[in-house]
Amino acid sequence: MLSSFLIWVVVFAAVLLVLPVIILYGMIWMCRHPRSLSPETLHTPGMPLDLVASVYDRYCLIIGLGRAFRQTMIRHAGLKEGESVLDIGCGTGVLTRLVAQAVGPQGEVIGIDPAARMIAEAKKNASAEGSRAQFRLAVAENLPFEGNRFDCVLSSAMLHHLPPELKVKVLSEAHRVLKPGGRFVLVDVDRPTNPLWWVLSWPLKFWPFTKDQIEGKLGDLILRGGFPRADKVGSWGGFLGFWKAFKSV
Ligand SMILES: C[S@@+](CC[C@H](N)C(=O)[O-])C[C@H]1O[C@@H](n2cnc3c(N)ncnc32)[C@H](O)[C@@H]1O
Repeated sequence: MLSSFLIWVVVFAAVLLVLPVIILYGMIWMCRHPRSLSPETLHTPGMPLDLVASVYDRYCLIIGLGRAFRQTMIRHAGLKEGESVLDIGCGTGVLTRLVAQAVGPQGEVIGIDPAARMIAEAKKNASAEGSRAQFRLAVAENLPFEGNRFDCVLSSAMLHHLPPELKVKVLSEAHRVLKPGGRFVLVDVDRPTNPLWWVLSWPLKFWPFTKDQIEGKLGDLILRGGFPRADKVGSWGGFLGFWKAFKSV
């Protein structure tokens, strides 16, 4: 009796541990499969999110990345009217549109993403809202902008879509397009700050795209991108970290 109970406990625990891994790696495989990518999507060693573009905003709300999360990013960015802002890996443009409101009619915000369906969603949403936010197909590792162009560069939940060898290149691109004294604000998967997330995030410790971030290397990556200093300015839900860095004057 006791032994069959123990067997069921072990089976149940194994399913609980293995199921998230199967779901996570299944989703990653599907998102990267050539058949899930639109023909216009730009080539990148990263993970463009064409497949989920139409349901992405609802998914964000379900996992708790709603308005309050976006407003926290805007607050950390400290945007002023008239500023020029770049949002790298903008997805459906929720954050980009909020930035457009913050910088006002004299300001400018451009969102870039390699996923053609994400950019299509972003443009559709912006036009429905009458937003001045602009959107372009581009990859963060090769930004189509001259140096010293933006007051602020934002990266929201994008870095963990890149393989480790591409992250420093992307961060150095963000550094290049910033004006001297300009600020870079990033939120992404970070070292978990509560025990529950230590357990739940265990599959991410084995995925190369997230391994370095879960191990707490975000600050080091930002420094390697050319920023003189990187500060963790907040966290979200115990697993996302907000980071801020300035380009030297
Ligand atoms: C989790 S979504 C985040 C979207 C949005 N920034 C947000 O906060 O909701 C990650 C985005 O990064 C994009 N992405 C993947 N590879 C990229 C690359 N090489 N350059 C720029 N963006 C990339 C994906 O297409 C996707 O839209």
